[in-house]
Amino acid sequence: MLSTSRKAASLFLRTTPMTAARNMSWWSHVEMAPLDPIVGLTELFKEDSNPNKTNLGVGAYRDDNGKPWVLPSVKTAEKTVMDANMDKEYLGIVGDQEFTKLSIKLALGNDNPALERTSTVQALSGTGALRVSANFLKKFNPKAVWLPMPSWGNHTPIFGHAGLEVKGYRYYDEKTIGLDVSGMLDAISKIPEGDTILLHPSAHNPTGVDPTMEDWQKIEEVVASRKLFPLFDMAYQGFASGDLERDAFPVRHFVEKGHSIALTQSYSKNMGLYGLRVGALSFVCESAEEAKRVESQVKIIIRPMYSMPPSHGVRIAKTILKDNALRAEWEVDVKTMANRIIGMRHALVDGLKALGSNHDWTHITNQIGMFCFTGLNQDQVLKLREDYSIYMTKDGRVSVAGLTPKNVEYVAQAIHSVTK
Ligand code: LMR
Repeated sequence: MLSTSRKAASLFLRTTPMTAARNMSWWSHVEMAPLDPIVGLTELFKEDSNPNKTNLGVGAYRDDNGKPWVLPSVKTAEKTVMDANMDKEYLGIVGDQEFTKLSIKLALGNDNPALERTSTVQALSGTGALRVSANFLKKFNPKAVWLPMPSWGNHTPIFGHAGLEVKGYRYYDEKTIGLDVSGMLDAISKIPEGDTILLHPSAHNPTGVDPTMEDWQKIEEVVASRKLFPLFDMAYQGFASGDLERDAFPVRHFVEKGHSIALTQSYSKNMGLYGLRVGALSFVCESAEEAKRVESQVKIIIRPMYSMPPSHGVRIAKTILKDNALRAEWEVDVKTMANRIIGMRHALVDGLKALGSNHDWTHITNQIGMFCFTGLNQDQVLKLREDYSIYMTKDGRVSVAGLTPKNVEYVAQAIHSVTK
């Protein structure tokens, strides 16, 4: 005989809708999303069984053997960090403040007077910094964000998901496969006052086409005359010219001219700390007091988003940035990467010429940074993927860092065959 309480329980089981709830689908209305246009290529690449497969999709540095490269300076710094046997305490919402001070100095220069009126917080690499800046803009300057056309594929969703309107300004000239500087200046001169303009200070992603220093001076003038808010996405400091100071010129120039700016920094590429998510978000403000208020609100955005940033990667980065000898070693590493990429640009053009290609490929060597905008159309890109297992984004962007002395001839042959 069942006890009273068990009887009540069995009754409950018979009448409760729980069984039905267990069997129902909650997500039948959820459609399969498309693969990410950049990161999704790596997923396709991994599934490809062609022994000649070549991944020129995601921007990640490879050495001459096509292998990821842990920078020697990073190895040394990581050993120092491990030997110090540090604790694993929370860093606090703004992250490691020794790192943030060193990071903004890397961007603005050690003696920049604007450092005093700047707030810098640690961020989950460039993307995380951008997303926090997007949420801040949504709250305090909810106007349109203008991106160069084209821009990094993730920029539009970053600002769009934060609820901001995203618009584009002219940048790239399809005919010359170069910069349309007059079109750019004209487009910027028509942006409504108070909107945000996103600028890539060096190694423009995806085109590899950068304004000259003279161009930057003109860009600054028109941004000032339109009273726009400049947001610099600096994901490649050192990667364009191999010179960290030179690549920071546009940021320093705007600050010197008196602009308040936002700046996002990533150490994924220039320190190769991809998976460790090391970055920073800065606001150069009107005064130190304003910077404090801005930072207090940035903290309010970060805390419910991911609480606090991770500690290991920034410990490596700051070990490099604060030690003169190690920093010099790192600068050599950055040059090594930049130079290998420049060498691969030449090797690709030489390979195409040797095969008898009569197209003008000079843009490949004129462009700068990790990427080359080949000018290949979508059909040619798909043919390269289907017939040769060569992966690049559908806009024809090639991560030159994925080329090696071993695969460059194969890639040249394939490009030649689809462009004959
Ligand atoms: C790229 O553009 O390939 C890199 O910035 C990696 C990424 O996250 O898209």
